[in-house]
Amino acid sequence: MKKIILTGDRPTGNLHLGHYVGSVANRLKLQEEGGYEKFYIMIADTQALTDNADNVDKVKNNIVQVAIDYLSAGIDPNKVDIFIQSQVPELAEMTMYFMNLVTVARLNRNPTVKDELKLRGFNASIPVGFLCYPISQAADILAFGTTIVPVGEDQLPMIEQTREILRTFHSTYGKEVFAAPNALLPEKKVCGRLVGLDGAAKMSKSLGNCIFLKDEPEVVKQKVMSAYTDPNHIKVTDPGKVEGNVVFEYLDAFCKDEHFGRYLPEYANLEELKAHYRKGGLGDVKIKLFLNNILQELLEPIRQKRKELEKNIDAIYEMLFENSKKASEVAAKTLKNMKDAMGLDYYKFLKK
Ligand code: TRP
Repeated sequence: MKKIILTGDRPTGNLHLGHYVGSVANRLKLQEEGGYEKFYIMIADTQALTDNADNVDKVKNNIVQVAIDYLSAGIDPNKVDIFIQSQVPELAEMTMYFMNLVTVARLNRNPTVKDELKLRGFNASIPVGFLCYPISQAADILAFGTTIVPVGEDQLPMIEQTREILRTFHSTYGKEVFAAPNALLPEKKVCGRLVGLDGAAKMSKSLGNCIFLKDEPEVVKQKVMSAYTDPNHIKVTDPGKVEGNVVFEYLDAFCKDEHFGRYLPEYANLEELKAHYRKGGLGDVKIKLFLNNILQELLEPIRQKRKELEKNIDAIYEMLFENSKKASEVAAKTLKNMKDAMGLDYYKFLKK
């Protein structure tokens, strides 16, 4: 089967460690493995506008920020096409037709949308566009014949809804137009939903509990030192809890055995470190400094690359422009197939 990969992010802020382990790491792996026909990363500005209609500048300014985050994290523009959602207008047209195949009740049941509605406190004033964004996301995915969608756990309901829309379309119009997409989650469970620094919820821009890929070294350190651990682990000698402890969750996500050799040679691996913490006698400062070393090692090259890329913003816009044009050509073909399948081929008898 053809392997076509597509994923994306809303440009409402810079990418953080949750994005990194949740999806960017898998993108880098797929990029290195190769063997795909096409690999798209979409900057989802249209989706970002569904709850930022009055804040266009924020979305606009973050488009290039997110593109720089991708490239500095190692996405190779020769292997992956990064494009802008709103610059592929076919997606909006596809969304219109898909809207007729989905009920309001079904949209209201989408668990991710439900969580987001609560978080944003929309109450009775939910923008229609926001409620419908899973439908537009289905268009993003189906327009390109996507078979693999590397995402974090919170996006599973969107992929499920996309598959439902595909089935309804095929059964309603009796023609197979679309390929079925599958989500690709990170191998480790902690990575699919990385907890925020406060330990209370997932890492999220809107909750202010993030370490950003672009954070300066002192900022990273200060955030790590403030991370939530075990509130009952007061004295170093007290036994500590590893579960629900943000530092250990991050170690689960980021630590490799080789890090011990470099930064904490008294232990062979994470299991030994956890055992010591559980028993008592291991202080929070020590584990935080260890985590800080690991994160600094990951983030330093990303930060350096970002500084290089920032010197030529025009080149980034040019890349986005070219890729969006190409993406629009691909989406136009799918849209044509889709309209033909629906019988919206009014002019087929016209002699040109
Ligand atoms: N919903 C995704 C997010 O919030 C962004 C997104 C839009 C997306 N369209 C997509 C992700 C298509 C994967 C595939 O980050």
